[in-house]
Amino acid sequence: MGYEKAIVRSMSRIEARKLGLALLVGCCIVILTYFISMSETAGVDEQPSLTYKVGTNEAVEGKIGVPNSDSVTKERGNKAAAHQHANNAEDKEEEVESKKPAEKSLPPKKQDEVIQMMKPQSAPVCDLSNFRTEFCEMKGDVRVHGKSSSVVFVSPHHQNNEWKIVPYVRKHMGNIEKVTVRTTTSPESAPRCTVNQTVPAIVFALGGFTGNYYHDFTDVLLPLFLTARQFDGEVQFLITNIQVWWLHKYQPIIKRLTRYEFVDLDRSNEVYCHPHVMVDLRFHSDLTIDPSRAPNGYSMLDFTRFLRSAYSIERDHAVDLREHPERKPRLLLVERNGTRRFTNVPEIIRMAEGLNFEVVRADASFGDVDGFVSVVNSCDVIMGVHGAGLTNFVFLPMNAVLIQIVPCCELEGMATHTFGVPSTQARLHYLEYNIGVDESTLLELYPRHDPVFTDPQSIHRQGWFKMGKIYLKKQNVKLDVNRFRPYLQKAMDFLRQ
Ligand SMILES: *[C@@H]1O[C@H](CO)[C@@H](O)[C@H](O)[C@H]1NC(C)=O
Ligand SMILES: *[C@@H]1O[C@H](CO)[C@@H](O)[C@H](O)[C@H]1NC(C)=O
Repeated sequence: MGYEKAIVRSMSRIEARKLGLALLVGCCIVILTYFISMSETAGVDEQPSLTYKVGTNEAVEGKIGVPNSDSVTKERGNKAAAHQHANNAEDKEEEVESKKPAEKSLPPKKQDEVIQMMKPQSAPVCDLSNFRTEFCEMKGDVRVHGKSSSVVFVSPHHQNNEWKIVPYVRKHMGNIEKVTVRTTTSPESAPRCTVNQTVPAIVFALGGFTGNYYHDFTDVLLPLFLTARQFDGEVQFLITNIQVWWLHKYQPIIKRLTRYEFVDLDRSNEVYCHPHVMVDLRFHSDLTIDPSRAPNGYSMLDFTRFLRSAYSIERDHAVDLREHPERKPRLLLVERNGTRRFTNVPEIIRMAEGLNFEVVRADASFGDVDGFVSVVNSCDVIMGVHGAGLTNFVFLPMNAVLIQIVPCCELEGMATHTFGVPSTQARLHYLEYNIGVDESTLLELYPRHDPVFTDPQSIHRQGWFKMGKIYLKKQNVKLDVNRFRPYLQKAMDFLRQ
């Protein structure tokens, strides 16, 4: 159950306050895949305001991750807004643009690979079968023109054909400009190369839901790992709708995936020629990997290992209490500021300390990722109410425990999809605690006999927007520590196994 593939109708409004642009976005039917809004501050009626903090470490969560923004927006003005915003990053981008990737001479093994890549491809170019993404891959004579966002594949084995691809792992994402992918048999009809490269290139977009910590990982960082890691740094990123602040924020990860400067495609008039080009990122499902479909059989464990290495965090196993019964396991209590907040933090801490945990408090402001990951990695258990902060499980050592506290009412399908399945794949122990009505502050807003409590499905049926407005935006949690205690005891048991 849940929202996957549920078709909802939703109205969305884009508000670009800083720019003074009021852009109205149409009403539309979307295929709503599971995704979450962990928005801290934005009211539901406010739409993603796209007010990115450029080049700062400030938390951006809540500025964009509003539930119904998954809707297919028809408004072309969005693109303008996105571009305008990107302009805020001008200083940094100029610096980036002026740096051209250095041509390198390749070791013999790489040369073989290049020759291999130059073998004519007869496989289909674009795979449109995934309900969430489109992915194109071309090997041979591939030319990418920046400003026109077009990719031309010159191939005697492919008839003239054309696709419009959203280079973001949500193909219904309306405010991402499409890339044209075209096959042609005649080199004359393709633009002339102005930059010749020997390494593969990946064309993808930033923006979208990025800026929300969960979406940063499920929409870009993990798909990028899945697409790029196999090249061991010998790959170049051609990025549309670039958000330079974002690339800086995750620099340790980006740097580990590519040794080349990224290209700001929208502003480049060059024609980049690569022997191998991918458009969009590989995607299986949210924050998970299907090793049977992944290059090199990568698994979620490879991803978390990769993250630890990117951030130079060493700890790969949680404390083993059989070996070290004297140690206090560290419990990371993820607090939220806005909605879905714990209202009785001191009581929770007392209870956890009573069970011999050392409690580490963290509020979910995700500015300084670099500084925070080692704190997360030092912990053995993470607990928090459903929200982006739990994404930090990716930095936990193996055998650690994630306890997701699921707000009322009937959100567990979404909750399990978002963090349960992924954390289990990452070889953590996962516990899910569904709060009772008495633990929900919604009781202060609705009488107990209200359908909000007695018939949650009647609210869920009204679509993501309405559901989120009540259950995600208005609800805080007063954890019943006596009811919850066994979950922490169970976590302790896991650390003894
Ligand atoms: C790139 O390679 C093509 C094909 O070898 C050649 O025609 C073209 O002049 C090269 N362009 C540059 C800028 O080196
Ligand atoms: C959370 O609240 C505290 C104090 O009210 C504030 O200093 C901090 O900036 C807030 N964090 C976020 C992410 O809004």
